[in-house]
Amino acid sequence: MSAAAINTPLTAMFGLRYPLVCAPMFLVSNTRMVQAAAAAGAVGAFPALNYRPLTRFAAALQELKHCSAFGVNLIIKNNPQLDAQLNTALAQRVPLIIASLGNPTAVIKKAHAAGVRVFCDVINLHHARKALDAGADGLVAVASGAGGHGGNIAAFALLPALTALSDRPVLAAGSIIDGRGLLAALALGAAGAYLGTRFIASVEAEVSADYYRAIINASAEDIVTTARVDGYPGNFIKTAALLEHGIEPSWFDLLVAKNKKLRSLVALYRTRRALYAQPAAKKISYQTVFAAGQGVGGITKVLSINEIVQNTVAEYHALKNNLP
Ligand SMILES: Cc1cc2nc3c(=O)[nH]c(=O)nc-3n(C[C@H](O)[C@H](O)[C@H](O)COP(=O)(O)O)c2cc1C
Repeated sequence: MSAAAINTPLTAMFGLRYPLVCAPMFLVSNTRMVQAAAAAGAVGAFPALNYRPLTRFAAALQELKHCSAFGVNLIIKNNPQLDAQLNTALAQRVPLIIASLGNPTAVIKKAHAAGVRVFCDVINLHHARKALDAGADGLVAVASGAGGHGGNIAAFALLPALTALSDRPVLAAGSIIDGRGLLAALALGAAGAYLGTRFIASVEAEVSADYYRAIINASAEDIVTTARVDGYPGNFIKTAALLEHGIEPSWFDLLVAKNKKLRSLVALYRTRRALYAQPAAKKISYQTVFAAGQGVGGITKVLSINEIVQNTVAEYHALKNNLP
C-alpha cells in the first residue's frame, strides 16, 4: 500500500501525489528514472544535454509522452544549442522546463507563449528576484551542500528568504535524502524537495559500480567543493581520482577569476566542450569524478526509485505526527 498523499502548491500544479522531484543530473538522469519517479507519484527531470545529439533528445521526449509530469533542464548561459533544445521541448509540450545558469527571460517568454511552465535554479536572493521578475513559475533554491553546482547559502536561511519574495512555489535542493529532510523543507516554506544525490543510489540510475560504491561509502566529510572539474565550484566526493587531478584552483583558474573577459571566453569554451565532447573523452569529469551532495552520508543502500519515494514519504508522515 502506498503512503498517504502530501498536498502542496507543487503537487497541485503538476497533479502529483508527493512533492518530491528526482532532480536533473548531468550524465546520470535518464528516461527510466523519470518514468519511475512519475510512476511512484513524484516527478523526474533530466538535462537536455544527457541526450545528444538533438535527435536523441527528441526521441527521449517521445518516450516520455505518456508520462503525466516531468521536467527538462536547460542550461541557458553559453549554450549554443539552447534554441534548438527549447524548440524541441516546446514542440513536444514538456510539462516543465528547469532553467539553470544565465538569464532566463527569453526562455520564459517563449515557454509561456507555448503554455509551458518554467522553474529557475537560484542560489541567492539576487538571482531569485531576477527570475521572478522574468516571470518564473517557481524557483529551485539550491542551497549549500547540494550535489553538483550548489550555492553557498544554508537552506535554513535561503528557503525562508526566497519564500518571502512571492507566492510562487519554491523547491528545496541540497542534502535532502529522506523524510526528515522533506519535512524540514516544507516547514521552511518549500513546496517540495528536489533530490539529486539520493537518486544516484537508485537501481534506475544505472551508474557505474564505482559511483554506486562511492555514494554508499562516503560521509559528509568526504565532500569537497572544487572548481577544478569543470570550471564552476561544485561538490564532489573526495576520491583518489579527484585528488590526483587536484582540488585547489590552478594558476590559470586564478587568472581567469580576475579577468571578466577571459572568464566569459573560458565559460563559452567549457560549455561547448561539454556539449560536443563524447563521454569517452571526459577523462576528468562526471565519468571518473563523482558529484554528490553532503547528504551522501545518510545513503546506505541502492534502492528502486519507488522504494526511495515510499520510504521518504512514510518517514515524513511518521515524523510529522511524532515530533517532540
Ligand atoms: C551528478 C550530478 C549532476 C548534476 N547535474 C545537474 C545539471 O546538469 N543541471 C542542473 O541544473 N543541476 C544539476 N545537478 C544539481 C541537481 O539538479 C540538484 O540541484 C542537486 O543534486 C540537489 O542536491 P543533492 O544532490 O544534495 O540532493 C547535478 C547534481 C549531481 C549530484
